[in-house]
Amino acid sequence: MPFRGHFNSPQTLASHESRGSRGPAGPGLGGLGREPSAPTRGESLLTEQGATKWADVDPSAIAHNTALVKQLVGAKTAVMAVVKANGYGHGAVPAARAAVEGGASWLAVSSIPEGLELRKAGIREPILNLGYTPPNALSAAVAAKLALTLYDRPGLALLKTAATEIPVHVKVDSGMHRLGAAPEEAIRLATEVHADPHLRLEGFWTHFADADRDLVFTAQQLRVFLDARAALIRAGVTGFITHAANSPATLRLPEARLDLVRVGLILYGVRPARDWHDLPTLRPALTWQTIVTNVVSIPAGQSVGYGRRFTAEQPARVATIAAGYADGLHWQSAERGCVIVRGTRVPFAGSISMDQAALDVAAVPNIQVGDVVTLIGRDGDAVLTADDLAEAAGTISYEVLCAISNRVPRRYNI
Ligand SMILES: Cc1ncc(COP(=O)(O)O)c(C=O)c1O
Repeated sequence: MPFRGHFNSPQTLASHESRGSRGPAGPGLGGLGREPSAPTRGESLLTEQGATKWADVDPSAIAHNTALVKQLVGAKTAVMAVVKANGYGHGAVPAARAAVEGGASWLAVSSIPEGLELRKAGIREPILNLGYTPPNALSAAVAAKLALTLYDRPGLALLKTAATEIPVHVKVDSGMHRLGAAPEEAIRLATEVHADPHLRLEGFWTHFADADRDLVFTAQQLRVFLDARAALIRAGVTGFITHAANSPATLRLPEARLDLVRVGLILYGVRPARDWHDLPTLRPALTWQTIVTNVVSIPAGQSVGYGRRFTAEQPARVATIAAGYADGLHWQSAERGCVIVRGTRVPFAGSISMDQAALDVAAVPNIQVGDVVTLIGRDGDAVLTADDLAEAAGTISYEVLCAISNRVPRRYNI
């Protein structure tokens, strides 16, 4: 369990114990509602360096969710944990380790530097770069034994220049029209890789455009892909694995699971759609919190923040928090978004600015500086999910998670 008790860097939380009754502490540290005098190890470390926001990542939830997926797909299908974009904001290395512990036998990234980061941390599982490999990154990719995606002739010419064994996954464009070769061309590329004395055709794959909304279209994409695979096999090329399914297809289109599923979102405990209840015991792996930094009373008619987008209709109490759009709190969420403080959901009061946001805290009369504010997670009976934030911001949960910036220290000691 190498990730337990481990901080990616020793971050600290601000010390406001003497000012607020509750003091900053993540829920995993038992901080809510407890006396501030005896901080746990994580809390005291965080406090020393003065961070006023943090994201607690629970690697055991990622391991648990991965095990659920592994159980779902069965022994014949491998799980590839997609840990690109810093593990969807959870930290690529801890997420990868947790997923491997839960039963993932492959990892996926979207660039060579992301793959190198995993190797540097000592991760030895096979890693596929789902994205483009720039010529000047080839030698590093080969040295790190990354599997590489191929979808065009310049890419094939580049891989041949290495004149060494490279595991290659040819990507078929089955209807998404982003990366990928048209089926006929993909078959030709795969055949040439197979015939090359150095390159090794390890995989043949595609990606779905709309699996969380349109399973008919997804099934058509799968048909295009499987037809291409069949033609490749008829051409005498065998010994490679095939993969297609992302999280929604893994859950809802069992015939797309094939040799391996490439799952990201559900490993982090977030469902592809709000109204999907597949894998009921899925556990969100990330809690995002900040603290109250000021509480002011304003008379009726006064406004708050940039653009004066909140005007008090009656005497109001407004609390500022230490999170803004530079932390990943979307500017667009100001109007419809809310956070939790002292177990109560409260709305924003006006604009979200770069480093701060303001809350209308009429519903929490005893709020104090230093109180913990939950942006994603649970406080008492109140819960906010990545989906809730996404809905408020008019975006998707993926973007909410990936947007939590590196100014928000991640903690892994829950
Ligand atoms: C090529 C590819 N495969 C798989 C995934 C994982 O998707 P999900 O997070 O929906 O499981 C992604 C994510 O964007 C992707 O780009």
